[in-house]
Amino acid sequence: MLKIRNLSKSFNKDMDNEIEVFNRFNLDIEANRCTAIIGPNGCGKSTLLNIIGGNIQEDEGQIVLKNKDISNLREEKRAIHMGRVYQDPSMGVSPSLTILENMSLADKKGERFTLRRLIKKRNMDRYIDLLKDLDLGLEDKLDTKVQFLSGGQRQSLSLIMAAMKYPDLLLLDEHTAALDPKTSNVVMKKTKELIEKYSITTIMISHNMRDAIAYSDRIIMLDRGQIILDRPSKDVTEEELITIYRTKLDEAIA
Ligand SMILES: Nc1ncnc2c1ncn2[C@@H]1O[C@H](COP(=O)(O)OP(=O)(O)OP(=O)(O)O)[C@@H](O)[C@H]1O
Ligand SMILES: [Mg+2]
Repeated sequence: MLKIRNLSKSFNKDMDNEIEVFNRFNLDIEANRCTAIIGPNGCGKSTLLNIIGGNIQEDEGQIVLKNKDISNLREEKRAIHMGRVYQDPSMGVSPSLTILENMSLADKKGERFTLRRLIKKRNMDRYIDLLKDLDLGLEDKLDTKVQFLSGGQRQSLSLIMAAMKYPDLLLLDEHTAALDPKTSNVVMKKTKELIEKYSITTIMISHNMRDAIAYSDRIIMLDRGQIILDRPSKDVTEEELITIYRTKLDEAIA
């Protein structure tokens, strides 16, 4: 489904403060699976997602999605095939627009439109169904501006907006990290339901080992831009991951 080949990326290239994040990095992501990416701060997780999403340009290498090299495709063009949810609840939505307007915009991704003409009754029925699935009562708040929603409500809305066009790829970058533990669990459960219901190929970054194991099919641990663990989630334990983390942290300090 997604192939990353010989990816190299450094920030501040040829300067004193150059940071090499990836050097000839390779990764294959299978279709219809949720792959969790974990690893210490600064190991390159977000950079990888940003390169896949096209908002950071790689120095070298190819990003191949469904056998098509998309390395030179602009971010807006890639966005048609990809849904994204960010850590910051204000990023995946437009706070000054209503729930209905936000959903309509997400629905029209990649098309030309004007906001006034785009909301149709039959579309609304679908939005209401999607919101009802969330079980947060948002279907009764269609005309509420998103800025008045809680973080958990916003992330849940972002999630259905990211998934409603059945993207080839769903990219989640710590999308529950800003939420309290209870809300985080609710959003994670909804995430799993949604990606299973629509068989969406997903890459999910998390710092929560338990969530990474519980909600993914495969776990990849990165350390300084390299894969140091790659296993089916059912074959890994939280203790094991924490032990590897600790060892790596000790190595980094030593
Ligand atoms: N725009 C940028 N300019 C300069 N350096 C950057 C930039 N973006 C990321 N970096 C650096 O690249 C490295 C990888 O960063 P990245 O954000 O991918 O880490 P991460 O694994 O997502 O970490 P975290 O768990 O803290 O989110 C870090 O050393 C970071 O400081
Ligand atoms: Mg990050």
